[in-house]
Parts: sequence; C-alpha cells; structure tokens
Amino acid sequence: MADIESLLKESRTFKPESDFTRQANWNKKKTNEYRKLGETNPTKFWAQMAKQNVSWFTPWKKVLDWKPPFAKWFVGGKTNVSYNCLDRHLEGENSWRKNKAAIIWEGEPGDTRILTYSELHREVCKFANVLKSQGVKKGDRVCLYMPMVPELAIAMLACTRIGAPHSIVFGGFSADALRDRINDAEAKLVVTADGGYRKGAPFALKATVDKAVENTPSIESVVVVERTKQPIEFRTGRDIWWHEAMAEASTKCAPAKLDAEHPLFILYTSGTTGNPKGILHTTGGYLTHVTTTFKAIFDIKDDDVYWCTADIGWITGHSYVVYGPLAAGATTVMYEGTPTHPGPDRWWDLIEKWGVSIFYTAPTAIRTFIRLGDEHPKSHDLSSLRLLGSVGEPINPEAWMWYHRVIGGKRCPIVDTWWQTETGGIMISSIPGAVDTKPGSATKPFPGIEADIFDEEGNTVKGDAGGFLVLKHPWPGMLRGIWRDPKRFKETYWGTYDKTYFAGDGAHRDKNGYFWIMGRIDDVMNVSGHRIGTMEVESALVSSPDVAEAAVVGRPDEITGTAIVAFVSPKGTTTPDDALVGRLKQHVTKEIGAIARPTEIRFTNALPKTRSGKIMRRLLRDIASGKEVAGDTSTLEDFSVLAKLRESDED
Ligand code: WTA
Repeated sequence: MADIESLLKESRTFKPESDFTRQANWNKKKTNEYRKLGETNPTKFWAQMAKQNVSWFTPWKKVLDWKPPFAKWFVGGKTNVSYNCLDRHLEGENSWRKNKAAIIWEGEPGDTRILTYSELHREVCKFANVLKSQGVKKGDRVCLYMPMVPELAIAMLACTRIGAPHSIVFGGFSADALRDRINDAEAKLVVTADGGYRKGAPFALKATVDKAVENTPSIESVVVVERTKQPIEFRTGRDIWWHEAMAEASTKCAPAKLDAEHPLFILYTSGTTGNPKGILHTTGGYLTHVTTTFKAIFDIKDDDVYWCTADIGWITGHSYVVYGPLAAGATTVMYEGTPTHPGPDRWWDLIEKWGVSIFYTAPTAIRTFIRLGDEHPKSHDLSSLRLLGSVGEPINPEAWMWYHRVIGGKRCPIVDTWWQTETGGIMISSIPGAVDTKPGSATKPFPGIEADIFDEEGNTVKGDAGGFLVLKHPWPGMLRGIWRDPKRFKETYWGTYDKTYFAGDGAHRDKNGYFWIMGRIDDVMNVSGHRIGTMEVESALVSSPDVAEAAVVGRPDEITGTAIVAFVSPKGTTTPDDALVGRLKQHVTKEIGAIARPTEIRFTNALPKTRSGKIMRRLLRDIASGKEVAGDTSTLEDFSVLAKLRESDED
C-alpha cells in the first residue's frame, strides 16, 4: 500500500498544448463521443472502428459472438492482414503511398535499408511464394527466430498473406527454449539468420537453431538470412539461403481471403506455473484493435516518422512496430542493435538522423538514459519529436518528468500505454489531443474497453482505491486462447472472477477516474519490461545437478524495474561458493536465455515454507530487498531457516 500512497502525492497535471489539440486525429469532442458510445455499446463502437480502419473482402455477419470465455469478433467477415498493411496503400486514392517509406531500417554497424510500400509488397509476395514452395500451407505454423532485420517484418507479413500463423521467438532465447516453443506449436519451418549484431559484435543464431532442431520432429526446413556472414553449418536438404530462394521467387501472390477468426500468430509468454503459454491471436479483431489504437493514441499523420524501440520478438514489436503502423500506412523505424552502441547517444542520433516525430519506448530504457547523463540527448537536435510513448512497466513520475523535459523538450505529450501480450493492443492510455496527463498514470481506458478495479470478492472498488485490474467486456484484440490448452486459458484469466478477465496486475483509481498501474500481483517478474515467470527460472535452476531446491523472487531495481534474486539450496555434496554462483547463472542462461539470468544467487540449507509446504515468497521478497521481514510468520515450518537467510544477508 505504500506505493499507492506515494503515487497519490503526485498531483502534477499536464494539459495537451493547443497546437497539438488543433491537429489531433482524436480531439476532445471526438474522444468523448467515442467514449460514450464505447460505454453504452462497445460492440457498436468496435464495429464502427472495424469499418473505418480495416479493409474487408467480405463483411461480417455478426460483430461479436461471446460465449465466455470464448469470443469471436466480426464473425463471417473475411480479410487479410498483409493486404491491409500493403496492397491497400498501393491502390486507388492511397496509391501515392507506393513510394512512401514503409520501413526505415538501421543496422547496429550503421548500414541502412529503406523499403517503400511497393518494395515491401514485392518482397512479401516473394517470400510468401518461398513459403509455399517449401510446402507451408494455410494453418501451418512458421517459427521466426531472427535479429531485428527487415526480413523479419517481410517474413511476418508473408505468413499472414498465406494464412500461416507465425510464432516469433525472441533472438535472446536459448536453444532449449526455442526447441520447446517449436514443439509446442509444431512449426513446420524456421526462419533465422546466420546471426545479428549486438553491443558491437556479431552473435550467432543459426548455431542455436541447429541445436534446437535436433529435437523438433515437425521442422522440415530452415531458411537462413545472411546478415553477419559468420561461418555456419549448412545442412543440404534442410537449410535454404533466403537470398537464393528469393532470387527465384515470383513477385505475384494474391492475399488469402481469411476468416476474421483465422489464427494470425502465437506468441509465448511467461505464466506463474509451468511452461510458457502460447498466446493465440486471430486476424480481424486484432487488426481492428491495433490499427484503431495506433491511429488514435499515436496521432499518426502521413508525414510522421514513427519509432518504437521494442524488439519484434515481443508483443509491442508485433503490434506497434509492424502491424499497427503498416496497416495505418505509416513510416516505421526499425533499429537492430543496442541503445548505447557505439556511444550512449545512439538513439538520440537516430532520432536526429531520421527526423523521428513519434517515439515509443520503455521506462527501463528511460531510466538507463537518465543515469547516463543529460549531455547525450542534449548533444542532438530532437526538435522533430512531437509525441512520446511509454510501455511495459509502470513509469515512475520522476522518469516521466525527465522524459517530458529532456527528450520531449516540454512540448511533447506523453502517452503511457498499459496492455499485455494477451490483450493484443493498448487498453489504457491517454489520447494525446484529448486527455490531461499525470506523471505515472496511464490515465483512462480506451473507448470500448471496460476496465475496472475489483476487490477480492469481485466488487468494484469505490472512490479513491486500489485492487485488481480486470476487463469486464471482451475486446477485439483479446487473446482467443492458449495454444492447445483451453483449460489453462480458463483458469489463468477467467477463473478468478465470473465472466471477467483477470489481468494479474494491481491498480489504483484516483478520484478523477485515472488508473495507476502498480505492477504484477502474481509470481511473474517484470524485468526491463519483459515478463519472466519465477517458476521458469526455478525449473531451470533445479534442472542443474547441483541444486536441490530453488525459489526465485524479484527485488526492486532502479534501472531494470526488477532484479531476479534466486534462493538456492544446493545438493548435499555441492559446495556453495562463487564458482557455483557462476555455474548456476550460466545454467539459467543456457536453459532460458540471458534475459532470465539471476542478478543474485543466495544459498540456504532449506527454504522457508508454510505448514502446507508453500514457499513463503513474501518473506523471501522482503529479504531480497533488504527489508526487515514483516508480517506474520506463525505458519513458518522452520524458523531457523529464516534466521539463516538473514545471516547470509549480512555476509
Ligand atoms: C506491465 C507488454 C504499467 C503490466 C505490452 C502488464 C505496464 C505486463 C504497462 C504485460 C504500463 C505493461 N504501466 N505496467 N504502461 N505496460 N505493463 O505481456 O504488468 O510483455 O501486465 O506486454 O507489463 O507485459 P507484456
């Protein structure tokens, strides 16, 4: 509750500048009208948006078919995502967009590539034909394990063109993590690259794929983009060079007319228990949601240069680097590498160089740059910027103020956007020309989104109060399920409250109806804006021959939001020493990837447990963050364990 109180002290309010309001896609009047419609009839609101923002081959018969917890949107309608992102910008009154930059790409070494809408269309058609020639058919899954190169966007759009759902696995995941995801989705083909660039050096991807596909019976071929030219092993009969296959491919490929509910992609995300969940999104509703929110929240105009810094391997990259911007006919910037390479001003250099006008990033990055010093952004001309966005974790008011002042030059509105892999698109956010902002608040739900805050019994909390963030009405971009696990889908999201989606976040609503997101209330840690389940890290640790038991918790961290702390009880014969710490960190990196590598490993003879055997995480969290252990410990099985852990703290 202390957090809630400290946020309440935040009383600064920022009104949109009249210069911005005057030109905004959604002004106050329009936003209020939509809000009203969304409140009285969310289905009608979304139908209107689907008509305005998406091109359909066949109109839908029914807007929403809701059999909780299963929703179908735009039933009977037919469309195609790649058609919406490409073809419609080449035809009729939009045909002038043919030669507009769709993607401005910059590699970490400084090489660049600009793809116009017509070039991107051609590349996508070609790769769709490559997929077909490899036997990929409508409904087959394709795994994309790639660096941030234009070929990733091309491959995604090619999949959507033929109706083959993609499953993108972030390039930082290990071979084991990749193998599990390929097997869960039973992907037929993987697209990868020899490697990519990060922190000034090439890293390998193909070698990881080689290892993963040793145990993936469903994989028939591996397409390899040549990016770094590092030596790779090439298995004839299975492996194909991207450039060789593309050289022969036809530039003509009609977009498949897909059902609105045709699976669009699977994206794996962490849960509280067991394996990652394959979050399933479908075609028409997702496209409506991301395109509508993109136009309204990012206020996109045809001459904007928009840059979202997320990796496409996460949902933010899917929805707001590729699909939302391209469906809106925008110019989207893609950057391959590390924010601070070759110097701490790389991002600001990119903004100046490309004239970025809309910039969307994560609080963890903002906090890193605060620490690096104001001189780096100040040494660049950032006057092209007109709007800033934040996503992935709560933004602390001081980071918000810095972003506003140093990056936004006090003139750019900030949209703090709350959403999740599961929601597909933004759910709670300011509308920049219509809503006053308060540093640290995501403001209000988007029109047509029925967000609320419940207490434990499922009652709406009244007045100025906190509780659990829920969504009471289905929305078009909502996940349609967990891949092949309807039971887990029901339990995870719909098992807490009746017919209501449980987001797993705590939130507070102030007297003006503004939402303040407090972060996860379950055992999912948010590290640098990436969700990592404590369970996954624990499973990785106990899979080491040295470990008997492990418990993982998050501790607040100034830069990354959360740091991973592992409490490990080693097997009898193992000596707990620095070498073991190193080995275990390495082990987690191998099992899951560097993103899940614990910051700290602490040894203990036994973990504190309740009488029923549950690990007392609250206690461990307090110990990890150096707090005095608070609260009731009468259910502790072994008090000496607690004492030992505190001692180890003082070492
Ligand atoms: C957190 C990322 C506060 C939240 C799009 C959520 C946020 C989780 C915000 C989803 C925000 C995301 N303010 N918290 N603006 N945006 N979160 O699936 O805890 O990677 O549940 O989706 O990130 O993370 P995911």
